Amino acid sequence: MFPARLPWGTTYAVNLTSDASGIGSWKEEQFIKALHERKWMGLDNTRPLMPPMSMMPAIKMSDDELKAIFAYLKTTTPVKNIAPQAVLLPPAASKS
Ligand code: HEM
Repeated sequence: MFPARLPWGTTYAVNLTSDASGIGSWKEEQFIKALHERKWMGLDNTRPLMPPMSMMPAIKMSDDELKAIFAYLKTTTPVKNIAPQAVLLPPAASKS
């Protein structure tokens, strides 16, 4: 687990394995949206993806590159692990 304590709170690196507690039930479009539009879980009406992830080079990858990563992640051994919820301080906590 990778906790990042930052001025806007603490975020935790997530489970990217193929388990349901990871990206097992995600659709490809969700994965691309999560990174390109910086939306939590790649869904509309969710909070923004926070640092350090929102500053990672991965967000600048092309659709095709992200599709390739997503396809690979779907082949990984499922690992059940629910990362702790981010603790966001105001004003980050009120953003959506
Ligand atoms: C190619 C490399 C990477 C990919 C494809 C990737 C992908 C993702 C995705 C899709 C999420 C969103 C998960 C969700 O919404 O449930 C996420 C979150 C996160 N990632 Fe990464 N990640 C990568 C590398 C990294 C690295 C190197 C770090 C740490 C140095 C990191 C730290 C985080 C953190 C802290 C979050 C949670 C952010 C939040 O709570 O808003 N990631 N990552």
